[in-house]
Amino acid sequence: MEIKKVGVVGCGLMGSGIAQVCAQSGYQTVISEVNDELLKRGMGAITSLLARNVGKGKMTEQDKETVLARLKGTTAIGDLGDCDLVVEAVIEDMAEKKKVFAALDGFCPKHTILTSNTSCLSITEMAMATKRPDRVVGTHFFNPVPVMRPVEIVRTIASSDETVATAKSFGESLGKTVILANDTPGFIVNRLLIPFILDAIRALEAGVATREDIDNGIVLGLNHPMGPLTLGDFVGLDTAYFVANAMYEEFKDPKYAPPPLLKKMIIAGYFGRKTGKGFYDYK
Ligand code: CAA
Repeated sequence: MEIKKVGVVGCGLMGSGIAQVCAQSGYQTVISEVNDELLKRGMGAITSLLARNVGKGKMTEQDKETVLARLKGTTAIGDLGDCDLVVEAVIEDMAEKKKVFAALDGFCPKHTILTSNTSCLSITEMAMATKRPDRVVGTHFFNPVPVMRPVEIVRTIASSDETVATAKSFGESLGKTVILANDTPGFIVNRLLIPFILDAIRALEAGVATREDIDNGIVLGLNHPMGPLTLGDFVGLDTAYFVANAMYEEFKDPKYAPPPLLKKMIIAGYFGRKTGKGFYDYK
């Protein structure tokens, strides 16, 4: 099946990155948000990242305008009605996601593939909110979307082979390396990443070392671009906490249980970069 037009629901950090990459890869892209303010913020973020690429000589002003011309922002989700594939990237709340899937299922043509960018929630449950569970898969991108190479394509027990194959070609057409995973909380990357970040927090909590030494140990000892505490701040400690809880709830394995220090930071509103404070200060 050929994908010509892509829809993205949600213009936050992930949705705007996904829409940018789709438009840069030649797709007509419609992105929806719940209000003008959030839409303007997301579209503004895309425009500044493209302008930064122009500044660095990575694209011309003309390329930037061509990409922007392929992008249409809307606050009416029904405007995604003629898309061949729609990526849902709204908040990590199953009830909200199911509402989005049911709405998309109601007005998108039969052939449209519906996907979710969730980090940890059940794609199967979202698929069952539609009458087309065979045409629902996960497309889990990584932050920052324009830079990070993989996309996890997540199949449920109801996804058809054709849908998985189309989603895989779509991921590759965005210049991403496709990783295939089955629908289990955290898929592949978060299944390994979340316990890693939680263990770093436990090490800090136990007084094993300072935050800087824990991070430097991993950056220098394992050649990671960021240490686990910096990475937690980068992805958002609220997100890490949410994913950890979702995985703990499913597996009941203590390795996914958020340590008390993380819980205290969430209560205090220390979510990392987005709030200006996490394990480090960003003000
Ligand atoms: N959006 C777009 N591009 C960005 C960006 C952003 N937010 N941040 C950085 N970049 C680009 C820069 O423009 C730069 O591009 P060029 O090479 O073309 O100039 C490039 O990335 C490198 O950036 P910097 O030189 O400014 O900084 P850096 O070398 O320290 O790299 C980084 C920044 C790419 C974020 C790097 O530190 C990194 O890869 N960190 C790890 C990120 C990671 O692990 N992400 C996955 C998180 S887990 C997740 O997302 C899944 C989940 O479900 C929780």
